[in-house]
Formats: sequence, structure tokens, C-alpha cells
Amino acid sequence: MTLGSQEREAEFVTVEGLRDRVGDRVKVRGWLYNRRSSGRISFLLVRDGTGVVQVVASAKEVPEGVWEEITALGQESSLIVEGVVKEDARSPGGCELQMTDLQLVQAAEDYPLALKEHGVEFLLDHRHLWLRTPRQTSLLRLRDRLMRELEGFLRSDGFTRVDTPILTPNACEGTTSLFETDYFGEAAYLTQSGQLYSEATCVALGKVYCFSPAFRAEKSKTRRHLIEFWMLEPEMAYYTYEDNLHLQEQMVEHVVGEVLRHNSDDLEILERDIQGLEKVRAPFPRISYDDALELLEKAGLSLQWGDDFGAPHESEIVRHFDRPVFVERFPVQTKAFYMEPDPDRPEVALAADLLAPEGYGEIIGGSQRIDDYDLLLRRIREHNLPEEDFQWYLDLRRFGSVPHSGFGLGIERLLTWIAGLEHIRESVPFPRLLNRLRP
Ligand code: 4AD
Ligand code: MG
Repeated sequence: MTLGSQEREAEFVTVEGLRDRVGDRVKVRGWLYNRRSSGRISFLLVRDGTGVVQVVASAKEVPEGVWEEITALGQESSLIVEGVVKEDARSPGGCELQMTDLQLVQAAEDYPLALKEHGVEFLLDHRHLWLRTPRQTSLLRLRDRLMRELEGFLRSDGFTRVDTPILTPNACEGTTSLFETDYFGEAAYLTQSGQLYSEATCVALGKVYCFSPAFRAEKSKTRRHLIEFWMLEPEMAYYTYEDNLHLQEQMVEHVVGEVLRHNSDDLEILERDIQGLEKVRAPFPRISYDDALELLEKAGLSLQWGDDFGAPHESEIVRHFDRPVFVERFPVQTKAFYMEPDPDRPEVALAADLLAPEGYGEIIGGSQRIDDYDLLLRRIREHNLPEEDFQWYLDLRRFGSVPHSGFGLGIERLLTWIAGLEHIRESVPFPRLLNRLRP
């Protein structure tokens, strides 16, 4: 004799998997997100990381003692619910669970993040708990999607991931934002960028990328800067400035397309208007630094030639375009020491920043690199960088130097734009900000 599904030991199913189990008695392991009661019936919202299901418990249908437990359940208590899956068009996921039994794993009391509005500092103090809410889990999933799709794109294009050190004696992006630490009596810095090392590995492998945290002791408080962020940095031997921009636009188009394809539920939870994202198609428009200055002047935001853009300038520039835009050929003095000058106009660098639409700021910075030994040495001196620590980097121009290019994409900036966030702090699980090292 075979047992009907009602008599067999109930199987564990994720909330996401419930829709395929209508009519079955199953168990869900999760946490109580919310609860309301109406007389002798209780409605529990149970989340398990894959979704949220409504569990309906009726006093007369649950075993003795369970009803009392249910009415005392605090938010975020961990529990295992057993019940029968019922189709229900009004519920999220199209079904609900009719409770037959409950196993309380841990009874949580006085959960600090009750379901009401909280101030952002309070939420950040409780970031370890805040991460459990639907908006934050959507952001975590989106972040994972970005990382996966970016890496997938590069790997399928023949790139090899090569990791770069976190502790380094070299400043890559200027000496003002260095994080100094003591390396057995010698000064070392947390990496600002893996680029210099990737320039070495791209000669070994052709096309490489590094993907690691980067650190900038940014002393200013903005909505776009983190102290610790993740950067993806491809570096390609024999790539020209043009090849570099082409790769960037293909990559950004790809990742946005994949997010729209796989994460529409998350974008909906975030209430992201996706019209702008749907327009992200390569090629992206370009504007030179010089033309950008003119455009800014007309908008009453005049800058001197050689000044760098701030957030208001970037917002004004992107207002004129309906997709990401490259600002290119910056004055040499506004950019890092390693950038190749334009052969036709040596006062500007073969460098471009990719600005996101809608005022989300710079998401990519990239350039062709100097491949000439003498010019590179001159730049290292002009920037007052310690020559001895750059000998290995200069070696790359002594032995098999070739034109090469690369760029760095900030994962949190990309996510802030794609998710439509007000502030970059929600784009990373545990943000490190000017005044925040905890939790
Ligand atoms: O423009 P950046 O400083 O370029 C570099 O570090 C190069 N070495 C990259 C390369 O060519 N390999 O930084 C690159 C990107 C920026 O466009 C931005 O997306 C992000 O890194 N970024 C930050 N993100 C969050 N917080 C900060 N403080 C950031 N600084 C840069
Ligand atoms: Mg930059």
C-alpha cells in the first residue's frame, strides 16, 4: 500500500518552491516577519531568504499548545512551519500554507527593528538586522547578480581573473586618500586600486581582471563615496583607447540587460522605474572634457580648464543624454600619473569616465596607460612618487612594453544607479563611511 502525500513525513521546501507543491503537506524553515490575528485565526508572514509566504493558522486545527505559542510569537522568531500548500491568487507567489504544526526554534523578543519607519542612523546601527528586510535582500541579490554577470561577461571574452595585493607600498590614485598601516615597522597602504599589478599580469596573460576591495580615506561626506568599496578592473595588453571604451560599453549593456531579465522582482520591490535602464544600449554617447566645460558654462557652472568635476557638474552633463555617457580627454593634470597623453594634444590624456544617467555619477574610470619608459619616469617624478617603489612598475616598460589599456568599475556605484538608490550606503552589506566603522 502506498501512502498518500498527507500521511508521509512532510518534506522541507523553500518558499520559492511552494508553488510547485500545491496540495502537499510540507515544512518551511524560516523566520517570522509579521503576524496579525483575527479572532481564532492567525496570519503569519514567514520569510526564508527565497521569499515570503502567508501561513494561516486556525486555533481549532493546530495541535494543543501551538495556538498559545503562535499568539506569543515575536517578530524574527525562527520557526519551522508544517502545513498544506493551498493555491491563493492574492498571496505573493500564488499560494499560502495552511498550518498543521509549528516548531519554534528560537523565540525572539523585543526585536529592535519593528515594522515601522526608522531613522537611517538607527538602521545603520542595526545593519546586521536591517539586511533581513525585503528591500535589503533585493539589493543583496542585485549585487550578487552584478558581480556574477560582470565576471561572466569577461570570462566569456577570454579574460583571466588574477588577484592583486591589498597591502602595498604604492599609491595608485594619488596620495591624499591613502590608508596607512604599519607593516612591521615600515609604512604600507591599503590598496586604492589593483591596476598597477594588473598591468604586470596582463603581460603574462593578455587579458586579465582583478576584483577586490579598494580603500580610499575620503575625508568628505558624500552620497557617492565609500571608504571601502569593491572594484572590478580589467587590463588588456595591446588594447587601444578605443578598444577600451568599446569593451566598457559592451559590458555595461550586458549587465543591465541581465538584471532586467533576471531581477525584475527585485527592481519592483525597490520601486525602480526601469524605463531609463531599458535604453542602455551601446554605443554610448561621448563628450570631450572641453565640450563639457562649455556646456557647464552655459548652465552657470563655470570651471577653469584643468578643474575636476564635482557632483553638480556631472549631474548637469548627464541631463543632456538618455544613457550612460563617456566624458573623455581630460587635462593631464586632473588625472592619475600613468595615463597616456593624446598624441595629437599632449595636454589631454587618453582617459574617459563613464557617467551614469540620472545623476548617479561616475561608474567607470579608465585610460590607455603610458608605455614609454622615459615619459613614465618623468610623470612619477612630477607626482613626487617614491621612485624606488615604482622600479618594478617601470620594469614593465623595460621588458616587452606594449600599448595597453584598462579601467575600473565601482560595484557600489553601479548598483546605486541600477537600483535607483538615494545614497551609496545601502549598496554594500556593511558600509564603511566617514563616520562609520560599525557593525
Ligand atoms: O576613477 P578611479 O579612482 O580609477 C582607478 O582607481 C583606476 N586605477 C581604475 C583603473 O583604471 N583600473 O576609480 C574607479 C571607479 C570609479 O569610477 C567609481 O566607480 C569607483 O571606482 N570609486 C568609488 N566607489 C565608491 N566609493 C569611492 N570612494 C570610490 N572611488 C572610486
Ligand atoms: Mg575616477
